[in-house]
This record gives sequence, structure tokens and C-alpha cells, in this order.
Amino acid sequence: MRTIFVTGGAGFIGSAFVRLVLDEHPDVSIVDYDALTYAGNLENLSGVDNARHTFIKGDICDREAVLAAVPEGCDAIFNFAAESHVDRSITSADEFLRTNVIGTQVLLDAARARDVRRFVQVSTDEVMGTLPDDSDEYFTESSPLRPNSPYAASKAAAEFVVRAARETHGVDAVITRCGNNYGPRQFPEKLIPLMIANAIDGEPLPVYGDGRNVRDWIYVDDHCRAIWLAYEKGRSGEAYNIGARNEKENITVVRAILDALGKPHDLIKFVTDRPGHDRRYAIDPSKAETELGWQPQVSWEDGLARTIAWYRSNEAWVSHVRSGEYREYYQAMYGGR
Ligand code: NAD
Ligand code: TYD
Repeated sequence: MRTIFVTGGAGFIGSAFVRLVLDEHPDVSIVDYDALTYAGNLENLSGVDNARHTFIKGDICDREAVLAAVPEGCDAIFNFAAESHVDRSITSADEFLRTNVIGTQVLLDAARARDVRRFVQVSTDEVMGTLPDDSDEYFTESSPLRPNSPYAASKAAAEFVVRAARETHGVDAVITRCGNNYGPRQFPEKLIPLMIANAIDGEPLPVYGDGRNVRDWIYVDDHCRAIWLAYEKGRSGEAYNIGARNEKENITVVRAILDALGKPHDLIKFVTDRPGHDRRYAIDPSKAETELGWQPQVSWEDGLARTIAWYRSNEAWVSHVRSGEYREYYQAMYGGR
């Protein structure tokens, strides 16, 4: 039996990873450590196999709690825990720097103290900034780190503390940089679940700017498979770009959601743009394909249909996460736009 330590395992991608690993790797048990912020939700873990999954509520910045939670000699730490929403980082960056940078350092220190074999840092393509419109440029692993949002800056800083821990202290570490994920259980502050939830309710769909910003979308389980392969096959010190070669303009995504739900396009409302809004993300995943033997398995059409079906049949989940703090957030973010 191998034990792995997963942070942020009650969030969108972390919980998908926990499910995938428990399903596909019967020799692995998971210690799942999550602070349960607004984005963390134990409902995301309903139905997982408790015999091989231990949940601990805790903050990755809390050094003593982290040291108490990481099992001695566990095989890997997978760091998903983060503040993850660009718009929130524009309103206030403090928590992004605390969790995403300090928290990563605390985990790296714990990896050394507990003799953990490998550290997997779940990063993002956003550390590489933006690409010009209508170009044939792609993000590769040698693209410079040029983050534009406070969120992206905090994730880039986290990559640097991971690098420093490896160079200085010999921590075995790999980094994954994935594009925009979509799928079940994504908090409805991000584009796809927000648009699905608003469309279902017949509320306006707020599209920033001209709607022509491009994102490179990937189904969450395909991202999780790539993270697993980076852990098993990745070379220490390397970063791996993860993407499904699926660039879409935001307006195309929004129209596809409305069409799938049989809702009129006049629900679309163009609103004031996000400051510093990155224009285009596009990933060249050749290195992950070649070195890790990774390929995405879920097509955009199938993935979007699965995602919409999940939100339609999980109204209780949606109404729980959209109560309380979410209402204040939504009013502050979209009220005056
Ligand atoms: P999420 O916001 O849905 O979940 C984040 C989780 O981390 C939550 O469960 C939250 O409770 C937990 N968390 C936050 N602060 C914490 C703290 N201080 N201590 C412990 N736990 C804490 O995020 P997500 O979309 O699942 O993203 C997971 C990771 O993947 C992040 O590191 C993010 O940067 C990265 N990533 C996300 C995407 C994407 O499209 N969502 C793409 C590439 C990379
Ligand atoms: P988002 O899901 O926040 O991811 P990221 O900014 O990390 O890529 O946004 C995806 C794209 O959708 C981005 O170009 C911003 C845009 N967007 C809107 O047009 N309206 C919205 O309400 C949101 C949340 C995002």
C-alpha cells in the first residue's frame, strides 16, 4: 500500500483526482488535507471509498498542523490547495499570496521533514501570461513566466519556491501547468459552471469585454490523469504543460451552453472587461504526450454534455454553494457591471 498526501482534495480538481486515484489505483490510500474555504466542499467527496481516504480539515499555512498530518515516509505530496479565481485576486491578493506561496513553502518543508519521496505542484498555464490573438504561438515548457494577474503571480511564485527547494535541499519535485478545466463540481464563479447555472435559471450570462478571449479547455479527469503520470513518470525538476488542443473563444463556449440547454442567445450580456484580462491561452502538450505517454480521453462535445448533465441533476449542490457568501460575491462582482 502506498500513501499519498493530497491538499485541496475537497475542491473541484482535487476531489476529481481523489476519485480517480481511488478508482484506478487500489494499492493507494490518500490523506486528504483541505481548509474547506468557500471553494472546498465535503459534498464533493460524497461516495468516496472511506477505507482508503482520510480527510483532515486544515490550513496548508499552519506548519504544526501540516507536520502532524503528513505521514512519515509517504510517497508523494500533491499540492492542489490554492486560491484559484482570478477575479477574486483582483479584488484582494493577500489570501492568494498567503495560501499559494507561503502554503507551498510549508508543504515543501514538511516533505523534507517527513521524508516524502516526491512533491507534485499543480500549477497553471496562466503563469506564462498571454499569447497574441490569431498567432500560431503556443505555451511550451520554455516559455518565460510572465504572470499578469495576482492569481497567476502567486502561482508563478509558488513554482519558484518549488524550484528553490529542489535546487537547495534536493526535494524531488515535478510541476504540471494545465489550461482551463471544466467538469462536475466546479465552483460557479468560473466561466463554464457560472454560465450553466445562470442559463438554467434564465438569468443574464455576463461575458467580459468582446467575448473573444481564448481559453484552452480540458475535461478535469484528463488533467487528473496527467498529474498522476507526472508523479509516476515525470523527471524531477521538470514542468509539464497539459492541454487538450481545444482553444475556444469565450463567446463560442457560452453559445454552446445556451444551445445545449435550449435557451435563447439574448440571455448573453456583454459587461465591462476584467482588468489585465489575458487574451489567449494555448498549450503545446507535446512534452507530456512524449515523456509521460499522456493523451486526453474526453472530447469537448462529450465533456461539455457530461458537465451540463451533472449540473442539471445536482441542483441541491448548486443551491448549497450559491447560498450565503456567494450572493455577496456575485453582487460585488457583477452588480455594477
Ligand atoms: P478550487 O478553488 O475549486 O479548490 C481549491 C481547494 O483548496 C478548496 O477545496 C479549498 O478549500 C482548498 N484550500 C484553499 N486554501 C487552502 C488552505 N490555505 N489550506 C488548505 N486548503 C485550502 O480550485 P481548483 O480549480 O480545484 O484548482 C486546484 C488547483 O489546480 C489549484 O492549485 C489551481 O491553481 C490549479 N489549476 C486550476 C485550473 C482550473 O481551471 N481550475 C487550471 C490549472 C491549474
Ligand atoms: P475563468 O473561468 O475565470 O478562468 P481564467 O480567468 O482563469 O481563465 O474565466 C475564463 C474566461 O471567461 C476568461 O477569459 C474570463 C471569462 N469570463 C467571462 O467572460 N465572464 C465571467 O463571468 C467569468 C467568470 C469569466
